[in-house]
Amino acid sequence: MEEVKRDIEQLKKMRRAVIVAHNYVLPEVQDVADFVGDSLGLSIAASTIKAEVIVFCGVFFMAETAKILSPRKIVLLPEREAGCPMADMITPSELHTLKERHPGATVLAYVNTSAAVKAECDFCCTSANAVKVVREGLSGEEEIIFIPDQYLAHYVAQKTGRSFITWPGYCPVHAQITAEEVERARRLHPQAEILIHPECRPEVVEYATCVLSTEGMCRYVRESQAREFLIGTEIGILHRLRRENPEKEFYPVSEGAVCTNMKKIALEKVRWALETMEYQIELPELVIHRARRSIERMLQFV
Ligand code: 13P
Ligand code: SF4
Repeated sequence: MEEVKRDIEQLKKMRRAVIVAHNYVLPEVQDVADFVGDSLGLSIAASTIKAEVIVFCGVFFMAETAKILSPRKIVLLPEREAGCPMADMITPSELHTLKERHPGATVLAYVNTSAAVKAECDFCCTSANAVKVVREGLSGEEEIIFIPDQYLAHYVAQKTGRSFITWPGYCPVHAQITAEEVERARRLHPQAEILIHPECRPEVVEYATCVLSTEGMCRYVRESQAREFLIGTEIGILHRLRRENPEKEFYPVSEGAVCTNMKKIALEKVRWALETMEYQIELPELVIHRARRSIERMLQFV
């Protein structure tokens, strides 16, 4: 592994590349990254990075978002098959039909959607700023179609008092976390604060001390006086939480909360991407142009 890391360092300089990684990727991949964060942080990084090449260690829609924000840069996804099942749950033509049924509605898309779907939307949001986008970006009068995550939509509706036309999408990793698992973990660690991701089911979210995006969890833990935390999200985030807070204890609510797509980004594949300059994200100009509007609106609410 050390040899692969050395190769990556050299190649990175040679290619003038920056490596960015999502909080869920493998620990050794997080460790070679120049920036590790949540979907919002990664979007901001992609729009501000000066390097010519961005190696995106995350899933397809995230790399597409980086390309939309930095169309002149080369964006590499080390594993082409690293997709997001939730993003695949709605297609542009399904969205088109939904829009026809609700003419005049504003479309708010979770960033976990394809570039082609984003091109048909008015606003994007991430789990970090969804509540803010609705409270501050949408007037309160209009009908809102909120796609594709029904659970995030439910959470935001509760927080804002707005109602949404939703889509039955969900993240299979978060949706398989059960209330019984939180109960069990709570019995084992009664002093622990409970941090839950808003992609979880409502009956799981109910247990939360705080509902947060992955970066929100990292920030919360840094500032909290508590010593123990139950973490209700994909377990890749535990690496960062433990590294940044060695004096605190972290327990996953569900050991089974593993995103196999995020884990496809192996260290060897990062090296391969820098060696071969593959796999490059390419998008039609029109998609970039149209999707960019909704993403830039999202970036106004950070
Ligand atoms: P955040 O890191 O933005 O909270 O997103 C979680 C997630 O499931 C990304 O696919
Ligand atoms: Fe998609 Fe869920 Fe994996 Fe995130 S954790 S990439 S939402 S499947």
